[in-house]
Amino acid sequence: MKIDILLGLQWGDEGKGKIVDVLTPDYDVVARFQGGPNAGHTIEFENKKFVLHTIPSGIFNPKSINVIGNGVIIDPFILDKEIEDIKPTGIDIKKKVLLSRKAHLILPTHRLLDAVYEKAKGDRKIGSTLKGIGPAYTDKISRNGIRVGDIDNPNFTEKYQEARERHFKLASMYDPEFIQTKIEGLGFEEYESIWLKKLDLLREFERIDSEYFIHQAVLENKKVLAEGAQGTMLDIDFGSYPFVTSSNTTSAGVCNGLGVAPGNVGKVFGIFKAYCTRVGSGPFPTELMDATGEELRKKGQEFGATTGRPRRCGWLDLPALKYAVMINGVTELKMMKVDVLSGFKEIKVATHYKINGKLTDHVPYECSDENIEPVYKTVPGWEENLENVYTFDDLPQSLKDYILFIEKEVGVPINLVSVGPDRKQTLMR
Ligand code: GDP
Ligand code: IMO
Ligand code: MG
Repeated sequence: MKIDILLGLQWGDEGKGKIVDVLTPDYDVVARFQGGPNAGHTIEFENKKFVLHTIPSGIFNPKSINVIGNGVIIDPFILDKEIEDIKPTGIDIKKKVLLSRKAHLILPTHRLLDAVYEKAKGDRKIGSTLKGIGPAYTDKISRNGIRVGDIDNPNFTEKYQEARERHFKLASMYDPEFIQTKIEGLGFEEYESIWLKKLDLLREFERIDSEYFIHQAVLENKKVLAEGAQGTMLDIDFGSYPFVTSSNTTSAGVCNGLGVAPGNVGKVFGIFKAYCTRVGSGPFPTELMDATGEELRKKGQEFGATTGRPRRCGWLDLPALKYAVMINGVTELKMMKVDVLSGFKEIKVATHYKINGKLTDHVPYECSDENIEPVYKTVPGWEENLENVYTFDDLPQSLKDYILFIEKEVGVPINLVSVGPDRKQTLMR
């Protein structure tokens, strides 16, 4: 059976965690293929709420196996906290989660480097989650990384010390006071000693060659869902560079993040919010800096699941959405948070950009807010609260029209509409 992919089409936080959880009963395996604890995937059911950073969102289904693939980067300190949060559910995480030996580790010094690099950027800072993502992927690409498989190697300590020294040298070039940086509220040495102890936690997991595991699952006709983190506009190649993350968040990332051949990819589910949000810096053409933006943030509870930062909010951006559909080869769209738009008299949606006086629906190379003027279409809003709507047919007509309009513009069916954070608040079409 071919592997299906679920990923974000905007700047992250589209609701990927919720939908992976909703779809998991149909899958045998759920696998993360990129990113690390910069991700925060929220899942709500039975009045409980969980935020996952590294663990795949299939964890709450009793049957599914969850794989952390080679493309992911792992911080054992954060993984431990996630496990603690899930503990009350009684789920045996160590039986249900398999780790790729080839996944790289986020070292304590990667966190220091992330902080000093951001500080040095001044006004041009990325707004990173400061989880060490950029420096850990940099070490991977420059062939200096340490992988999960190395933790049982007799030369692990030597490798670790070598990396630590190299990172100290680098960090001191940027900021002589670097060692004062707090990590998770702790001083460096204290954090590091806990981090080193948490390597034992990784040893308690089954560590696998996940490319063989996934390949075998495909051969045995098992159903595998690849779960993306971040979103297309944060992709290292196709996002709003340099205001991006350091991995391929797009469907191509599944091939190198899990070792899947392109021919083995099946459906591609693209998740998008009925409006847009972005957390951190970088261009955001449809951003609303006014009371409407504030209202979206309030109604949508738009505060980061990983950092708690307020998310920037704006109207739906169709040129960016079409671009994301093109890059990922999306076959089905899932539209999230439509309930947040209830009560707006009118809703705007950007159909084009005006760049240097010319109309286009292409995302330009130079994507800065100064050179892009979004061109909006205004559609009527709806008053109805959607909390107790359970079928697509029962949605207000203006909302149905809005959904059909987007579907027509983008050219891909919207077959799921989400009307609230709970698992149950999901309409299939
Ligand atoms: P992810 O990173 O893509 O998994 O998304 P996040 O969990 O960071 O952010 C999505 C937020 O929206 C979470 O707080 C979800 O509980 C919430 N959410 C998901 N779907 C809906 C929805 O349809 N309506 C509302 N109001 N909230 C939703
Ligand atoms: P999920 O999976 C939203 C953003 C950061 C910053 C930029 C780079 O929950 O959708 P990094 O920590 O990777 O160096 O940050 O990317 N970012 C996210 N924004 N959702 C995420 O993940 C994000 N992961 C990173 O805010 O602008
Ligand atoms: Mg998130």
